[in-house]
Order: sequence, then structure tokens, then C-alpha cells
Amino acid sequence: MALNALDRHLALIGFMGAGKTTIAPEVADRLGRQTVDADRLIEGRVQLTIGEFFARRGETEFRVVEAKLLRDILDSGDPAVLDLGGGVLKTTTAREALARSAFTVALDVDPDTAWQRVAGTDRPLAGDEAEFRRLHAERAPLYREAADVVVTSGDVDGVVLAAAGVHHEPGSLDRLGELVPGDGPVALVADERVLGLYGGRARAALGDRLASTHTLPPGEAAKRLVEVERLWHELTLDRAGTVLALGGGTTTDVAGFAAATYLRGVPWVAAPTTLVGQVDAAIGGKTGVDTADGKNLAGAFHWPARVIVDAALLATLPERERRNGEAERLKTELLAGRPLDARGAAAYKCAVCIRDPHDRGVRRWLNLGHTFAHALEAASSFELPHGEAVALGLLAALRLSGRETAPVEAALDPQPVPVDRERAWTALQRDKKRAAGEINLVLLGPDGPTVEPRPPDEVRAALDSLIR
Ligand SMILES: NC(=O)c1ccc[n+]([C@@H]2O[C@H](COP(=O)([O-])OP(=O)(O)OC[C@H]3O[C@@H](n4cnc5c(N)ncnc54)[C@H](O)[C@@H]3O)[C@@H](O)[C@H]2O)c1
Ligand SMILES: [Zn+2]
Repeated sequence: MALNALDRHLALIGFMGAGKTTIAPEVADRLGRQTVDADRLIEGRVQLTIGEFFARRGETEFRVVEAKLLRDILDSGDPAVLDLGGGVLKTTTAREALARSAFTVALDVDPDTAWQRVAGTDRPLAGDEAEFRRLHAERAPLYREAADVVVTSGDVDGVVLAAAGVHHEPGSLDRLGELVPGDGPVALVADERVLGLYGGRARAALGDRLASTHTLPPGEAAKRLVEVERLWHELTLDRAGTVLALGGGTTTDVAGFAAATYLRGVPWVAAPTTLVGQVDAAIGGKTGVDTADGKNLAGAFHWPARVIVDAALLATLPERERRNGEAERLKTELLAGRPLDARGAAAYKCAVCIRDPHDRGVRRWLNLGHTFAHALEAASSFELPHGEAVALGLLAALRLSGRETAPVEAALDPQPVPVDRERAWTALQRDKKRAAGEINLVLLGPDGPTVEPRPPDEVRAALDSLIR
């Protein structure tokens, strides 16, 4: 079983009319990949349409050609999005090649919708409705079995989330025992507060797999190396085990970093319980701690084996924490240039992180507003919550981009904060993103996000406008 499409082809399978050909280019575009349409490639290779090939040489021969082509595609080239024919799973060779080299997503379509879409087309198997329905019923279990994940037809966000290993599922807290990949032992890490709220259910769901429970202090205080050291000391897992981080961004950052370093790396799973976690922090594999010099200055890239999102857990989230998450959601919406709910924002982040897992290019966009935010947080000795700082940072980024600040004001109403101006400015200048004399910032251009150098006095003025 593949867990994500990070370094693999993403193969779309499903019955005729599942919408693979519609969705494949959209998914590929979001992931910055090429689309490979297997049927078109075959037609090019044999110089016949699929319909003609079936009529003249029969399905059996077609499947042989198809399986060979699939092997060629899978064994070559950069990871792509593969749009595969509806019957591809009929040969063992094809099934094995997929299992070896692809992350396979089955698009689930009900027979009525599928028939509406294909009736009257020249697809070889779409001539007779009764036969079509019989085939649909026959193949549905094949798709499920071969798929790493099943997504509803048409759900582009669902495919992108799945590609990053993110599962959105109501009630998933109570199914952790099945949803944490593998069957080895699990070390549960959560802060005091989250353990009090959800620890009992998580432990019950893990059942026999629960090896140990580890408690962190709530909030940013967890993101210290001493806490990681304590986890190294307390953990009893071998490499067959998994660290499960249940909590907000501080918990997933610290537990993920402990997993990245313990025994030189064991798998970890994130079960985010805050909006910040569900739209942002638990996704993309950045883990780490704060140091005396600032936030997130030591860490590792360590992609979670799975991110398990149960939106119902947000019901107990205090209003202030919810607003922190709103700031990250709104940041993502500004980057995407279209309205996004929490799941859509999570999918946007997944796509950006798959395109650039190690933060060398487009992933920097996700820092919109964050240069200012981090400076304000540091100047407040981390008293100012990250989300409130991000809301202010977004104001500055919009102003410097020549954009209206109304969307941020309407949603979050950020107010200037009483921190020391010099301290904030010093912190901002320490930011890594410096180019000769100017300061690199993520801004919003007419065609979307860009990273642009701006003169220090302009940046300083924007920072000052956030401070009272
Ligand atoms: N790794 C990344 O890519 C990334 C991205 C964004 C933010 N972050 C980091 O995330 C951190 C902020 O995360 P956060 O805002 O989730 O903070 P957090 O983890 O400290 O959680 C905030 C508070 O909410 C409580 N809480 C958590 N879930 C709850 C629930 N369901 N009901 C009631 N209370 C609950 C916690 O106990 C805590 O007191 C920052 O350190 C930030 O740097 C990381
Ligand atoms: Zn952030």
C-alpha cells in the first residue's frame, strides 16, 4: 500500500464515466505534474482508436498492449498523473505495476451517473445499458481492492488531499486503531488539555496498539528541545512503531520532530484537533521547535504517514483558537484567489507542499504575512498568538501588494499590538529571506503570489503600522 503520491505517480482508476479524464488535468495542474492519458497513448501507438482496436483485434489483445504500456509509463519519467482506462485492472501485470510504482486513487461513481455520462458515446463497452450495469457491479470491488484511496467522482480537492495522505473523515477519532497505517505499536502524544478532552476516546480506539502515552504542556511552551528530549527518553518504540500526535500545531510540530529524530526517524501520524492544525500545521511535513533566537529555528522535514482529520473535534475549540485558524484559512484563500473552506484550504496546502516538499520554491508562498507575523510574535516574547500575528501580517502584505485590506478586516478585525518597535524590526531583519540590501516578501501580484524584494524603509513602515 502506498501512503501518498509524494515521489510516485498518481494513478486515477475507476469505471467508465467516473470522470477520470475531466479530473486528471485539474489534479495535474494543482500538483505541477504532467497528465498521461493511457488510452490516447495507446491510440497513438497502435494507430487505431480504442473502438477500432476492440472491433478488429478484441479486448484480450488490447489488455496486453495496455499492460505493457502501463509498465513503460510507470517505470519512467517524473511522477505524473495517470488517467487509466476503466478496464486496466483486468490483467495481473497491470495491477502489480500499479501497486509497485503508483499511488492509486479510485474515483467512485454510481451506475446511474456513469451511464448518463457515457450512453451514446462511442466507447466500446457503452453500447448496452444492462451489460454496462453488470460490468459496473463486477468491477467496483476490483477498483476498491487496487486503490490506495477511494474518492467520490468529481472531488478534485479529495484527490489532492489523498495524494498528500490526508484523510478527512467524520468519526475518525474513534477509528484511529485502523487508520494509523500498519499494525505496529503506537505512542500517543498530546497536550494536557487535549488528553483531558479526547485522550480516553483515542486510547480506546487504539486498543492493543497503544504502547505509551506522552503528555506535553499546552501551547507554544511545548515547542522546546527539552520536550523533544523527554520524548526521546520516554519512547519505547522500535522502528515498527508509529508516533501519533493528537493536538494542535504545537503538538504536531514537536511530536513530528521527535519522530523525525528518535532512532534516526520513525513514522508518525498527525491527528490535528485545532483549525490551525487541520488547515495548515499538520500538513506538509515541517516539524520542529523554537530556539532562544526565534520560532521554528530547528527542525526537520518529515512527512506524516497519514493526517487524520475529524472536523467534529473543533466543537470544543475556544473562540480565540478558532480565529487563529481562520487567519491561516484566509491566508490560503488570498493565495488561491478564490473562496476556500477549511477542507479546500487544506487541499491547497497539500498541493503546494507536494510541488515543493523542501521549501525551495512555491512553498514559500505559504509565508504570506508571516515575515511580519514572526517579528511581532518575537517582539511580544511569543505572548501574541500566531494567528493574531498572521492576521496583522496579512494586512501589511496586502498593503504592500497594493490590495484592499477589507477581506482581512471583515473576517478578523486585527488591531495594532503594543510591542516594542525596535525589537520587532530587529527580529524582522533577522529573517532568513534577505537579499542584497532589500527584504524579500511574499506578495500578491496580478497573476497570483510572488516573492519580491522590497526596500527596508517601506517594510519598516508597514511593520510600524501594525504596532501601537
Ligand atoms: N508545521 C507547519 O507547517 C506549521 C504551520 C502553521 C503553524 N504551525 C505551528 O503551529 C503552532 C500553532 O498551532 P495551534 O494554533 O494549533 O496551537 P496549539 O497546538 O498550541 O493549540 C492551541 C490550544 O488549543 C488547545 N486545543 C487543541 N485542540 C483543542 C480542541 N479540540 N478543543 C479545545 N482545545 C484544544 C490546546 O491545548 C492549546 O492550548 C505554532 O507553533 C505554529 O508555528 C506549524
Ligand atoms: Zn502560520
